[in-house]
Amino acid sequence: MNSTTPINKTSLLFVCLGNICRSPAADAIMHKIVKDAGEEDCFLIDSAGTYGGHAGSLPDPRMRAHGARRGYVFDHHSRRVTADDFDRFDYIFAMDDANFDDLRRLAPTIEGRDKVLRIADFFEHYQMDCVPDPYYGGADGFENVLNLLEDACEAIYKKIKGGEL
Ligand code: 4NP
Repeated sequence: MNSTTPINKTSLLFVCLGNICRSPAADAIMHKIVKDAGEEDCFLIDSAGTYGGHAGSLPDPRMRAHGARRGYVFDHHSRRVTADDFDRFDYIFAMDDANFDDLRRLAPTIEGRDKVLRIADFFEHYQMDCVPDPYYGGADGFENVLNLLEDACEAIYKKIKGGEL
């Protein structure tokens, strides 16, 4: 391969409601996993929200503070999911069932709809059916989000590398 050969990147989009707590955390956690593996060039990773009310905002300060304690920098600017996302990304991970249903409704094509997956289906160490929304809760909720996302993102990375996804 020479420097002009395009790399076929695996593209992952993480989606929650506001794109200020869960999905920007997932985005940064997955970035760190691929960076630590020296595979940044092989992946396109992003996040978005089904609700656009926080568009342009940095992640919630509570989410940023909890992430920083584990060494993450959460600096994504919130954006709403677009129709193009269903074309641009290989896999779209919904944080909960409401996100999953909204994404499937928003998908402009059947192919796009079939890219929508529940992130909870990738938990290896937790028996949960979603990444619960921490927005109206306390510190435990934000720690829970990080625990669940670290587990799921490691599993997603392993599955992609193992050809299972
Ligand atoms: P997120 O959390 O979906 O994980 O980003 C929320 C952020 C904002 C709101 C709800 C959940 N909100 O109601 O504004």
